[in-house]
Amino acid sequence: MSKSAKPAVAKLAVAKPAVAKLAVAKPAVAKPAVAKPAVAKPAVAKPAVAKPSVAKPSVAKAATVKPGAARRTALAIILAAGEGTRMKSALPKVMHRVGGLPMLGHVLGVAAASGIDRVAVVVGAKADAVREYIADAMPGARAYEQTEQLGTAHAVLAARKEFDTAADDILVLYGDTPLVSEATLSKLRKALAKGADVVVLGFRAPNPTGYGRLIEEKGRLVAIREENDASPSEKAIDYCNAGVMALSGEAGPRLLKSIKRNAAKGEFYLTDIVELANKAGKTVVAVEANAREVLGVNSRAELAMAEAQWQARARKAAMAAGVTLIAPDTVYLSHDTKIGRDTIIEPNVWMGPGVTIGDGAVIHSFSHLEGARIAGGTRIGPFARLRPGADIATGAHIGNFVEVKNATIGEGAKANHLTYIGDASVGAGSNIGAGTITCNYDGFAKHRTEIGAGVFVGSNSALVAPVKIGDGAYIAAGSTITEDVEANALAIARGKQVAKPGAASKIRARITRKIKQVGNTPKQ
Ligand code: UD1
Ligand code: CA
Repeated sequence: MSKSAKPAVAKLAVAKPAVAKLAVAKPAVAKPAVAKPAVAKPAVAKPAVAKPSVAKPSVAKAATVKPGAARRTALAIILAAGEGTRMKSALPKVMHRVGGLPMLGHVLGVAAASGIDRVAVVVGAKADAVREYIADAMPGARAYEQTEQLGTAHAVLAARKEFDTAADDILVLYGDTPLVSEATLSKLRKALAKGADVVVLGFRAPNPTGYGRLIEEKGRLVAIREENDASPSEKAIDYCNAGVMALSGEAGPRLLKSIKRNAAKGEFYLTDIVELANKAGKTVVAVEANAREVLGVNSRAELAMAEAQWQARARKAAMAAGVTLIAPDTVYLSHDTKIGRDTIIEPNVWMGPGVTIGDGAVIHSFSHLEGARIAGGTRIGPFARLRPGADIATGAHIGNFVEVKNATIGEGAKANHLTYIGDASVGAGSNIGAGTITCNYDGFAKHRTEIGAGVFVGSNSALVAPVKIGDGAYIAAGSTITEDVEANALAIARGKQVAKPGAASKIRARITRKIKQVGNTPKQ
């Protein structure tokens, strides 16, 4: 990718102000940088490694504090032990993806972006996939097992060991509520900084059934009533508990430990903390969030709703950063998609994880991109498929029905129609004719095709790898190339044309005679 693609790369991941943040657990600096926060690095035509990304949350990097502000330390406990029965899935619920990133990744990402010092995740039994994901995405976060599902307070207390180390703020987040923003977490923490001990995130639910209702008296939050325990008048309240909560490190642990089992349901309700705190003379407040932001995912339908919300946010961020989306609702982005300024994305384009696009590119309709670096000034599609490791340099054209996988396409090179380029490199300015195929697989192993600069590959050529085509070489149309071609050579590898003057007339005459003998024209 060219250097020109570097400056204005829009980061869609977690739309947030460019303020220095505290990062939790050095976000895996030592690893090959796939899908990391990353300012797009100009990748100069190196044979791209790219797996389609390990799907790590985009996490902030810097570790500075705003001058003047006394820094409050924070612990986040993310509840992720729920079984997610309604998902009807072999995959743990929090591993289902939104914007190509597991829901848990979104929550880890917002925690890190908010400068939270310690992250604990409460996982269920048999949650190996979740543990592995945490270890990879945020090695500094600790996982705690909640063996029995005895309620939200019980889940928080599964991580009680974390309370041994003091924190000013304790945030309780849900792994299945992926859209909570950094701004909201900061509002909750501000309330703690002002002296609150319990801060509840509330929202106005169009249909409050099933949610805990916030019971207020004279503007004070006195209790949260769960659906089962609510009176008819309480059920009419539409101000609901989003689940996210912030507790002061001073009062929180003691209050949590004092929560008793709910007699009717036999569970430990985190929501009981509100009444307990009031009884203990602590300050309890509610902070209101947008209902869309606190959408909790319990079913596939809600997963689709969360996806729609997330996409809407990402598209807006892309457009705000200078990307033209002609029909935004039809363009799908991923958590780590980066698109440069003045790039135009036509309707119906899919971008899976690991896509970086430079400035001033045009992505035509119906293109499917994943794990691809696309430099500025390129033209992709319509109907292009760029698979992981596709690395398209400045000014290159990838046209309709062209598939590129693990291949670098040099500056200004063109593959305009009906081509497969896999495990290959194409030098600058080369032209790949329609119907060209790099035959990279022999049934046992993959092999590379190396095409130099300024090469002309005639239509319908098969390049049987491993094979090298030197700079400036010319491959005649319809060739099957099995041996290396040296620079500036012409290679023709096809059956020789035989011309028989007058033979066509003779054939025609013979057929006409036959038809006359039969006496009619052959039936269609
Ligand atoms: C909870 C709140 C309710 C709120 C709603 C918002 C309580 C008692 N109720 O209800 O006031 O309106 O969320 O969505 O807190 N979890 C565990 N272990 C458990 C139980 C739950 O890890 O033993 C996790 C779940 O994975 C989930 C979260 O906690 O991420 C919420 O649990 P869930 O059972 O969905 O709570 P609700 O009944 O919806
Ligand atoms: Ca729920």
